[in-house]
Order: sequence, then C-alpha cells, then structure tokens
Amino acid sequence: MRNLRVDGDRLWASLMEMGEIGETEKGGSCRLALTDLDKEGRDLFVRWCEEAGCTVTWDDMGNIFARRPGRDPNRAPIACGSHLDTQPKGGKFDGVYGVLAGLEVIRSLNDMEIETDAPIEVSVWTNEEGARFAPSMIGSGVFQGTYSTEYAHGTADLDGLTLGDELARIGYLGKEKCGDRTFGAFFEAHIEQGPILEAEGKTIGVVTGGQGLGWYDVTVTGQDSHAGTTPMTVRRDAMMAAARLCLSVEAIAVKYGPQGVATVGQLVVSPNSRNTVPGEVTFTVDMRHPDIEMLKGMDAELHAAVDAERLKEIVSVEMERVAYEMPMIFDEACVDAVRDAAESCGYSHRDIASGAGHDACFLSHILPVGMIFVPCADGISHNETEAATPEDLAAGCEVLLRAMLSRAVDEA
Ligand code: GLV
Ligand code: MN
Ligand code: MN
Repeated sequence: MRNLRVDGDRLWASLMEMGEIGETEKGGSCRLALTDLDKEGRDLFVRWCEEAGCTVTWDDMGNIFARRPGRDPNRAPIACGSHLDTQPKGGKFDGVYGVLAGLEVIRSLNDMEIETDAPIEVSVWTNEEGARFAPSMIGSGVFQGTYSTEYAHGTADLDGLTLGDELARIGYLGKEKCGDRTFGAFFEAHIEQGPILEAEGKTIGVVTGGQGLGWYDVTVTGQDSHAGTTPMTVRRDAMMAAARLCLSVEAIAVKYGPQGVATVGQLVVSPNSRNTVPGEVTFTVDMRHPDIEMLKGMDAELHAAVDAERLKEIVSVEMERVAYEMPMIFDEACVDAVRDAAESCGYSHRDIASGAGHDACFLSHILPVGMIFVPCADGISHNETEAATPEDLAAGCEVLLRAMLSRAVDEA
C-alpha cells in the first residue's frame, strides 16, 4: 500500500502523559483497575479519542470502544486494543502501549485522510492485570464467554469492594451488554515482557499464540497462639504450612521446566504480628505451561501437594482454582498479516509465543486474532523500570496500522 506512516513522537508523548497518572517513585505507573486513577486514565483516553473524531461507548463490564467510521457501517469493525490498568508497581508500557498504539493508528489515518471500508475500533479491556480483582483479563473473559457478567461483577478486592460497585462508582458501568458486538479481526500490540527479541536483535515479534495458565487461591487455617509459650510440637502454624506449599509450587515448576513456570505473588498473613503464631495465611498461585498436558500435570501435582499437607492434620487447607485457561493458537491469516506488515516495513522479525496472558488470548477463542510484540529492556516487565525505545514502539505501531488496514480496506 502507499506510503503509510505513524507519528512516533506523538505516540511517545501520549504514553508519557498517560504514565503520569499514578506515576510511581521509580518512573512506573500504579493504576489498579477501577480506582480513581484508572478512571483518570480512562477519561484521558476517551477525551483523546473524541478529539480524534471517534464515537466512544462502554459496555456493562466497563470495556471501552472508540470507533472511527468506515465507508460501510454494516461491516464488522477491525479492532485493536489492550488495557490501561497496571500492576501495583507496574511500568508505563504494559497494556498502555497497545491502547495508545491503537489511538495513534486512528490519528494517523486522520492525518493521511484514509477512509477504510470497515470501521476501525480501539478497545480498552477492564481489569486485564488481575492485580486488584481475580481472575485477570476479566473484561475480555466475559466478552468471550468464559465468565458471566454476574460472576465478574461479584468479584471482590482485598478490601471486599466488588468490581460491579467500583465500575458504577467511577462511571464506567455501561448499558451495552458485554459481548453484544463483534469484530472482523482483533490485533493487540504489546511489549514482549521477555528477553527474546532484544537478545536476538529483532524489532518485531509475530505472536503465534499463548501459553495456558492456572490461578489458585489457597487458604491455610491453623490457630493463633503465643510465639513464646507455644511448644513447637503443638503449634498449628499456618505460615509454616504455607511455606511448605510455596516450596512445592517452586518444585513443580522446576520439574516441568524449562517451559513450566509458577509463582506465589500474593500472601496475606493473619494476624501478622511478630509474636503470634499465624492462624491463617492466604496466598495465590500462578502456574503456566504452553503444553496443555503439562499444565494438567502441574495442576494435578499442586492438588497432590495440598492433599499431602492436609494429611498431616496440623492445619486445614482450602484451594480454589479461579482461572484455568488453555494454551491457544492465533488465527493463521492474522498472524500472516502481522508478518507481512513487518516484512513490508523492512523490520527484522521472528515468530514468538506469548508467555504473558493478554486480552487477545481470550478473544482468540471467538475472533481472528493477531498480536505484535516489540522488545523491552532486559525483558523486564511488571516492574516500575519497564522500558522500551520510542523507535521500537513506533515500529510496532506501524505494523499494527498495516495489519489492520490489510483487513479494513478491500484493495489493500
Ligand atoms: C498479565 O499481565 C499476565 O498475568 O500475564
Ligand atoms: Mn499487558
Ligand atoms: Mn501485565
């Protein structure tokens, strides 16, 4: 297609401006889903999209859709997007890049006065990170049909505040039923969040699919007692039982390595006092593997470790699996569209599987989906210091533009 370009400086400036909302000490962002800061980020995005001439709506999961009309209003839009929520100590790029690259596509189409046949949409998906409400990717998960809206609205954060109430509080509980719209294709641009592209000196990752994951909430209940007077032989120490289970989680990942990974990222100790034997500990487990049979094996071994702890009859252990997502393969034509776009721009590229979860992963079960990765410094993400270069981000955005146009313009 003719000379297509995006404005990398404008994309960078928008990323930096969004990153100031909830900016952290080390230059990252903290915009947990549905907090006042998330609302501020959403409001800024909505304003930018309206200024770019889009019609902006949101559904009853708070997923936002900004539409640039096409010649044929009856055609399913060609969509892109990602998320604006972050980890508690997140970076400026995870998710935000995919959203603002989409906005840059729209701004660039406006600059170049390109009319598409299908409408173009940029979307923001609610609670992708899962850092405040579990499970993660809940907005796209409801859209795709894995979770019901009622279930999602009822999920609560550590303070007992529910997702539904928080959506209403910040003004993003829309009237449209989540899932009541469709797309002709969906593309998500994202930083890689791993070290491969940087190590190989490649600019673009052509994402072929994603790995499966299991998320679990574990509650270990023993008995609070005095740290100085309770003999070791009679303690019902929830923390020590939790510690043994955490080591089992690590051992399972090592056994299923190098592709298997597992993490205990959240742990709450009660009463959390230095001289009381803890009576209750809750913690989370995140286990992932690209092979479904291996993931099932990890799941079975985690259950076995919990059963072994129960058999000791020192504490009781409850475990709930809150997410279980199968590995997925993206649509061949969309993957090809991303590869062709990278090729036509002259960017070095390689096929790559995603280690992280993305909204595109859920959407891939119901839509043709493709993803574009760009390198990030040292492969570090979910970290305030997460970094990517303006040049790589602009390159990924250009690939996004071309991949979307290949589906949205008939003669493209
Ligand atoms: C999303 O950030 C994930 O957990 O992969
Ligand atoms: Mn992300
Ligand atoms: Mn993330």
